[in-house]
Amino acid sequence: MWDKIFKKKNIEDLMRAARGNQGFSRTLHAGNLISLGLGVIIGAGILVITGTVAAQYTGPAIVISLIIAGFACALTGLCYAEFASMIPVSGSAYTYAYATMGELVAWILGWNLILEYLIGASAVAIGWSGYFVSFLAELGYQFPTYLARPPIDDQGNWTGAYFNLPAVFIIVLLAYVLIIGIRESVRFNQWIVLIKLTVLVIFIGIGLTYFEEANWQPFIPPNAGTFGVFGWSGVLRGAGLMYFAYIGFDAISTTAQETRNPQKNVPIGILGSLVLAVLIYALVALAMTGLVDYRKLNVADPLAQALDNVSGLESGTLWGLRLFVKLGSLVGLGSVMLVLLLAQPRIFYAMGVDGLLPKSFTRLHPRYRTPYVTTLLSAGIAGLIAGISPVKILTEMVSIGTLLAFIWVCLGIFILRYTQPNLERPFRVPFAPFVPLLGAICSITVMVTLPINTWLRLLTWMLLGLVIYGLYGIRNSTIHQSEK
Ligand code: ALA
Repeated sequence: MWDKIFKKKNIEDLMRAARGNQGFSRTLHAGNLISLGLGVIIGAGILVITGTVAAQYTGPAIVISLIIAGFACALTGLCYAEFASMIPVSGSAYTYAYATMGELVAWILGWNLILEYLIGASAVAIGWSGYFVSFLAELGYQFPTYLARPPIDDQGNWTGAYFNLPAVFIIVLLAYVLIIGIRESVRFNQWIVLIKLTVLVIFIGIGLTYFEEANWQPFIPPNAGTFGVFGWSGVLRGAGLMYFAYIGFDAISTTAQETRNPQKNVPIGILGSLVLAVLIYALVALAMTGLVDYRKLNVADPLAQALDNVSGLESGTLWGLRLFVKLGSLVGLGSVMLVLLLAQPRIFYAMGVDGLLPKSFTRLHPRYRTPYVTTLLSAGIAGLIAGISPVKILTEMVSIGTLLAFIWVCLGIFILRYTQPNLERPFRVPFAPFVPLLGAICSITVMVTLPINTWLRLLTWMLLGLVIYGLYGIRNSTIHQSEK
């Protein structure tokens, strides 16, 4: 039994298969990867969640939380880079775990990636909906609130609303686009990144011109008497929640087969986009909390809320700016969801190929050659969840699930250095085993600061996963069948 569930894929076979798979053309270079990274990374984290976290847990010290989270992600990013250079296949963390820690851990990781990608897409869709409603309001149309909010809030109280229609709508639209086959068009993505960056740079410029110093005092508001609510524990909890804002850098590792000189360019892509994201996020957060009292930031569109507080610009200019920020945010959030909804079906697909999920998960569309069964399933679940859930609960689930995945990836590198020291490693994490261990410790530390309810939900989720594995995966996995 134990032999069975800890059975590993042969890493050398995977490396050979990755090398032998010449179907891809190597066209991407480091600049493309950085742009791809920023396309996925910059989204609801900075455009929506920063406001909520600043208002509830950190105050202006959200800047410090963002830097801590970015640093911890970079440590994990180095581990992803080593794996990606070694096994340049598209299954990402799920495949890495299969090769290093065996089937059960791979299953748990794949199950956790659902939290990262699928629930992540739901959370970003809710962010999109907030900006959509506020964009319409800017044009003079009030979208009915009972169709733009979940029926219950994060405290479990009825809101009087039915469901979040715009969030469901955007997911359905993107699922359609993904099925008919608009894949990651690098050029299209570069335009979106340019728009997003322009919006943020303008916002930073305004914030750092019209800020009021009083808004930054005190920079770390004193603890409110509860662990994690302001003070340094709040900063740490903020870091845990803001991991969400960096999610997506791991998606770069899935392009290893399409990249020129991946050994060099994948690490540059991962680390380059993370460093830029940290810099941009810290400045945006500084600008945001400088423009408005952090207590007012618990809204769906905090950037627009901050701009409302600028005194010194004439109202026409402000209106134009707000419209531009909202439009840029809508486009930018769209690209994040597109990549998350592109990644999830491919992980389901990989798990289907391995027999851990039903074979129907590997079905491709007869005409468009896309994994339409898993795309429909992912979008269906993501849409349903986005329609009825409060965003805060979702982002906490995404953060905890992602942190767990990051821990496994760091430990995987640590283990492989000892168990298979002679494998060809085109990119090596510097200062190993110190860096992978520190990466794991950082993720564990911020995980500990997340609310107890989030832990209980994670536990429930994991138990559900284990039951499914026990009832299905363990019996149908191809790695065991090939031995029968
Ligand atoms: N990092 C992505 C975002 O912030 C998931 O939207």
